[in-house]
Amino acid sequence: MWSTLKCALLLGAIVVDATPFLKGKSKNSAAQISAIDSDQLSQLEHFSQWAKAAYCYGNVQGGNTKVECSNSNGTCPLVETASTSIIAPFVQGESDTKGFVAVDDTNKMIVVSIQGTARKSNFDSVLTDLKIARVKTDLCKTANTKDGCEVHKGFYKAAMDVQGIVQGNVTAALASHPDYKVIVTGHSLGAAIAALLATMIRNAGTNVDLYNYGQPHLGTTDIANYIQSQAPSKGSNFRVTHFNDPVPQLPPHDLGNWDHFYPEFWIKINTGTVAATDVDQINATLYTKAGNEGQTSKFGPLVDIAEHVGAHRLYFGTIPGCRSLPPT
Ligand SMILES: *[C@@H]1O[C@H](CO)[C@@H](O)[C@H](O)[C@H]1NC(C)=O
Ligand SMILES: *[C@@H]1O[C@H](CO)[C@@H](O)[C@H](O)[C@H]1NC(C)=O
Ligand SMILES: *[C@@H]1O[C@H](CO)[C@@H](O)[C@H](O)[C@H]1NC(C)=O
Repeated sequence: MWSTLKCALLLGAIVVDATPFLKGKSKNSAAQISAIDSDQLSQLEHFSQWAKAAYCYGNVQGGNTKVECSNSNGTCPLVETASTSIIAPFVQGESDTKGFVAVDDTNKMIVVSIQGTARKSNFDSVLTDLKIARVKTDLCKTANTKDGCEVHKGFYKAAMDVQGIVQGNVTAALASHPDYKVIVTGHSLGAAIAALLATMIRNAGTNVDLYNYGQPHLGTTDIANYIQSQAPSKGSNFRVTHFNDPVPQLPPHDLGNWDHFYPEFWIKINTGTVAATDVDQINATLYTKAGNEGQTSKFGPLVDIAEHVGAHRLYFGTIPGCRSLPPT
């Protein structure tokens, strides 16, 4: 959970380590804003529950065979009513990345869901990793033209820690269910890892729909443009933000041109009960203050993190919402 204090510490680490980076120019690109319909809304809500389910102890470590939230004191009714089976729960690597691969026979899909920052051990690694070091990667293939496809070092490490397991199990599940869709989802840190995993799976030749909730910036120009360009031919991107959630604004754009891929689905009012009219679909490239990025105060990121963090915990109901520790 992102307590206010820890978020403040986290940003402290970012600010302290920002000096080697050139200040980016806040170019505000033109944005097109459109409405969503009730089918799109149901999908965004449905996958928010899958993202929630990755926080539940039972699903990642507790031996559940079916995806359940209620036995970890949470709720994900849209997932629980489907016929699901968890084929690969995992807690993996130095990054302690947690999540699962599951098959949903009711909706004919294979779902990869990655846990966000829930517990002390991986929170500490996030605090360390959120020093805004970036690494060059080969994720963007030949579209690697502006900055070497630089990605946040901690997010990249976490994705690499689980890539083999996720790719292996998705491939195996697809072999027995060739007509199923592949979905990758997550919230917060889990959303960042999910975006990178989706990119890797797409690069390996499988189409993926990506549903992300409260995802921080992943990197700079190349990775944002590349993920955006993967849609629609390699699957769709649904990057959901809520009101003034400060996490999608981190690391701050101006501390080295951190960017997002679009479209963004911005829940524009502070609510856990969302109607289609509460959501703007924002289409842009790289940086725009339309949507969540514009929801900053004049007091700066430290204050915004402390004051706005409540919005990070509300995506179609409370997130995490599930206990990630063993039952006591
Ligand atoms: C759920 O909550 C109840 C009541 O607070 C508690 O007794 C139980 O241990 C909790 N279960 C889990 C899995 O945390
Ligand atoms: C599937 O995931 C499990 C971890 O739950 C792992 O041990 C196994 O090697 C993975 N299978 C493949 C084919 O990668
Ligand atoms: C976003 O804008 C671009 C360029 O204007 C356009 O080609 C594309 O179809 C739009 N995508 C969506 C999802 O609206």
